[in-house]
Amino acid sequence: TVPPPFTVRMPTLPVLSPISGPAGQDTYAVTIKEAAREIIPGVRTKVLTYDGHFPGPVLRARTGRKVVIRHRNTLTMPVAVHLHGGNVSPDNDGGPMDTFAPGTSRTYTYPNQQPGAGLWFHDHAHHMESEHVFRGLSATYLLSDDNERSLPLPAGQYEVPIALRDARFDESGQLVYVMDDAFGRTTILANGRPTPYFEVAARKYRFRLLNSSNMRFFQLRLSDGGQMIQIGSDGGLLERPFTTDTIGLSPAERADVVIDFSRYPVGTKIVLENTLGPGTPDQVGKVMRFDVVRTAPDPSRVPNALRTLAALPPATVQRTVVLSMDEDGRQEPQGFMDGQVWDHHRIDQTITHGTSEIWTVTNANKLVPHNFHMHLVQFRLLERNGAPVGPAEAGLKDTVRLFPGETVKLHATFDTYRGTYVYHCHLLDHSAMGMMANFRIR
Ligand code: C2O
Ligand code: CU
Repeated sequence: TVPPPFTVRMPTLPVLSPISGPAGQDTYAVTIKEAAREIIPGVRTKVLTYDGHFPGPVLRARTGRKVVIRHRNTLTMPVAVHLHGGNVSPDNDGGPMDTFAPGTSRTYTYPNQQPGAGLWFHDHAHHMESEHVFRGLSATYLLSDDNERSLPLPAGQYEVPIALRDARFDESGQLVYVMDDAFGRTTILANGRPTPYFEVAARKYRFRLLNSSNMRFFQLRLSDGGQMIQIGSDGGLLERPFTTDTIGLSPAERADVVIDFSRYPVGTKIVLENTLGPGTPDQVGKVMRFDVVRTAPDPSRVPNALRTLAALPPATVQRTVVLSMDEDGRQEPQGFMDGQVWDHHRIDQTITHGTSEIWTVTNANKLVPHNFHMHLVQFRLLERNGAPVGPAEAGLKDTVRLFPGETVKLHATFDTYRGTYVYHCHLLDHSAMGMMANFRIR
């Protein structure tokens, strides 16, 4: 039932509008509900949505301006809404056990006291997060600050959020969720449509890419090998842009990328390709296509200096964390942090408020890739496998990929909220299997 590539147009994501509320903040009301949406042409697919949208809408927030969202849960299952990458208090973090029941509402307050960044929010109800996110509960949250807005980057219709993911459909076009289904999810969706095309003008565009897949890693390139300019990652803009012919995104990672289509004559079609499996290049090798259909004036520019990152405070504590999971093909594999399955009562790391730490994080598996995400903080990567990290990982990060056997060293500062948060593998099927742990800041 999935149509041939490039036969469906990629929509842009709707932007949520605030409702009226107290002055000085933006107030939103979102209904979490089941809906039927057209993903495959002519088919109504049952999905879970924020306000009826698949994928979730875009919420645009400003640094320094509070966002208050009231979510009403009309599903038959508990949910929790986590602002991924957000610096929020524990009671607003939407952690795995902090769910709200069917028929109830929950209000989250996001102070947005952090630099601009391409964040997102998604379900986090323990053991259900992976199915909920797979069925549609994820949305984009673009936080922008004064510095970012002062830059002459492509904006308006030329700044396009794109949520990438994979999916598995049955013959009737309904989503099929199977736990740990790395090999079955071979339909690639961009903004909720299978391998779509997107019409662009021959000028610069800024794409806010999010990998909202449960398990799939993307390694993206343009079919002509053309250069892209990466300007940002998880925690916002990089200090300086760099050109690259490839962008890697593990689940939950974001990339802020400028592509200049002015180098292509009108009529050119360029495919955004994915060079990573699982799945054959036939199934998962094509993500979407950019069709250059017109010319347009382009006053935008990518400045050589985008932002300044604060110097890293000296770290006073070093820790190691090891991710692993059963990879012997057993029926019900479990995931581990330092050999232990997540227990929400157990505090795995106790951190002194106001300090900085260096964490050395290793994927101990031989075959299975993981990644590592911490709630609350945006960290800096110091090393990957003993070497300095490349420019794509040199900015603020909240999620870092870990191919089998890899080790990263990261620097995090815990000087905002106190309380208990989680860190976990963001291959959501893995965190649902227990690859998660708690840290408490006191
Ligand atoms: Cu997007 Cu606990 O994560
Ligand atoms: Cu994992």
